[in-house]
Amino acid sequence: MYTKLVSFVLNGEPVSVRVDPFELFVDVLRDKLYLTGTKKGCGEGGCGSCTVLVDGAAVNSCLLPAMRVDGTSVETIEGVEENGELHPLQTSFIEKGAVQCGFCTPGMIMSAKALLDKNKSPSKEQILEAVSGNICRCTGYVKIEDAIEDAARTLRKDAVKGGSHD
Ligand code: FES
Ligand code: FES
Repeated sequence: MYTKLVSFVLNGEPVSVRVDPFELFVDVLRDKLYLTGTKKGCGEGGCGSCTVLVDGAAVNSCLLPAMRVDGTSVETIEGVEENGELHPLQTSFIEKGAVQCGFCTPGMIMSAKALLDKNKSPSKEQILEAVSGNICRCTGYVKIEDAIEDAARTLRKDAVKGGSHD
């Protein structure tokens, strides 16, 4: 079968992996690159648990042919912490009770990060829009929205202090 070597930046590190034309990126991440933080729920674009960032945009990796990531920069939940410290989104999700079973959490955080990377003062509507493709069966959405608002506050404070997390 025809295969192709795709090369891209994954969580800041260059990687190359051989894929076939039918492979989906979520499967390559989990089964070939062993990054199992990205979850596979519905497998058809309906739940958001497989969300990763491709060139900064939140994407359902279960719908993304792996060949399409060639030349891109990809961020997964494993790349969100910095220097061994949790990202404010991760801290806020824990502190605000926005995690129960945790299956949706990586996808939620990646969708929220796509928003906060561009806009650290989002409105409630913008937050809800950012996670509108992510389903949570456990928490309801209020605590998730609270956590994202809380993380945005932390990021604004960090920006004043000259911190990173961009
Ligand atoms: S597993 Fe990709 S959207 Fe559900
Ligand atoms: S915490 Fe269980 S699905 Fe969201």
